[in-house]
Amino acid sequence: MTRFLKWLGLGLAGVAGLVILAVGLVYGATEIMLRTPHAKAPVTIAASRDPGAVARGARIAKVYGCNDCHGGALEGRLFFDEMPLARVAGPNLSLKIGHQSDADLARAIRMGVASDGRALWIMPSEAFANLTDAETADLLAYLRSKPPTGHPQIDKQIGPVGRLGAVLGKFRSAPAQIAANGKTGLPDLGPQFAQGRSLARACVECHGADLKGSAGVKSPDLTIAGAYDEADFERLLRTGIAAGNRRLGLMSETAPGRFNAWSHEEIGALHAYLKARAAAAT
Ligand code: HEC
Ligand code: HEC
Repeated sequence: MTRFLKWLGLGLAGVAGLVILAVGLVYGATEIMLRTPHAKAPVTIAASRDPGAVARGARIAKVYGCNDCHGGALEGRLFFDEMPLARVAGPNLSLKIGHQSDADLARAIRMGVASDGRALWIMPSEAFANLTDAETADLLAYLRSKPPTGHPQIDKQIGPVGRLGAVLGKFRSAPAQIAANGKTGLPDLGPQFAQGRSLARACVECHGADLKGSAGVKSPDLTIAGAYDEADFERLLRTGIAAGNRRLGLMSETAPGRFNAWSHEEIGALHAYLKARAAAAT
């Protein structure tokens, strides 16, 4: 009996040892992912000095959700607090931009690489990778127009569940996500849909690079927009209320704050593109 207990004790100690080893490996592997610097690709974009640039940049920041995560005055905000997954604040950009060059900012936004070469995480640069140089120059003009305000935000904290997701490849850094997307993009359905296709870039953050939906935020393939008539579609984007008077989750919370910036014509062009995409998919 005592011998059996001894073996059992040794067995349990062995299991505990393996668990500790596994936790150590996950922690070590994710620390490497979080800290290893990336090469800083050369970027030549500069903030636009054009008189209308700040207003155009403010509109881009609104539609692409910069203010949702970085705050209306770019003061930053804690927007995700779900340990053991992660605790993440959008950094206070108003305090940071003074220390960064235009190239640093453009690289962070479109490539997901910070000014010190670190990969950014949770910052959805994969959704901004297709901003044009002119749009990026306007966006930089808007960022630079904001005076320093508020306090520095906490550095992101990735919990054990988040780290396990990173090791399993379910949760990627922004540059890794951009690389994984590769050439995946919005289907080109011809020049008559060019404007709608350009506006659909604002849906990529949550509906995926090809708009086929994303398991991470549980969003559907946007073929569903093909079943919407124009009035219901405009109502969804402006108020967050879906067809059949349904209130959704993240979509309803997000849409009004972002897509009200668009005109009736722009929403119509986006709807036409999504309808054509849905028709082409069947
Ligand atoms: C879903 C939330 C989210 C959205 C939307 C978002 N960001 Fe971020 N952003 C973050 C987080 C989180 C970080 C810090 C990531 C890290 O440290 O790994 C960050 C980092 C940055 C940085 C680098 C700051 C530094 O530390 O040097 C810049 C610049 C930036 N964001 C600009 C933007 C702009 C411009 C937009 C809109 C086009 C935007 N962000 C949209 C969450 C977001
Ligand atoms: C911040 C994330 C986010 C963004 C950005 C976003 N969506 Fe969504 N969307 C979702 C999620 C998540 C759902 C699933 C319902 C829910 O949980 O809110 C959804 C659902 C939908 C639906 C289905 C509505 C229904 O009838 O059930 C449509 C249509 C839609 N989105 C259109 C769009 C379009 C068009 C854009 C770009 C202009 C867009 N979404 C941008 C997150 C987002």
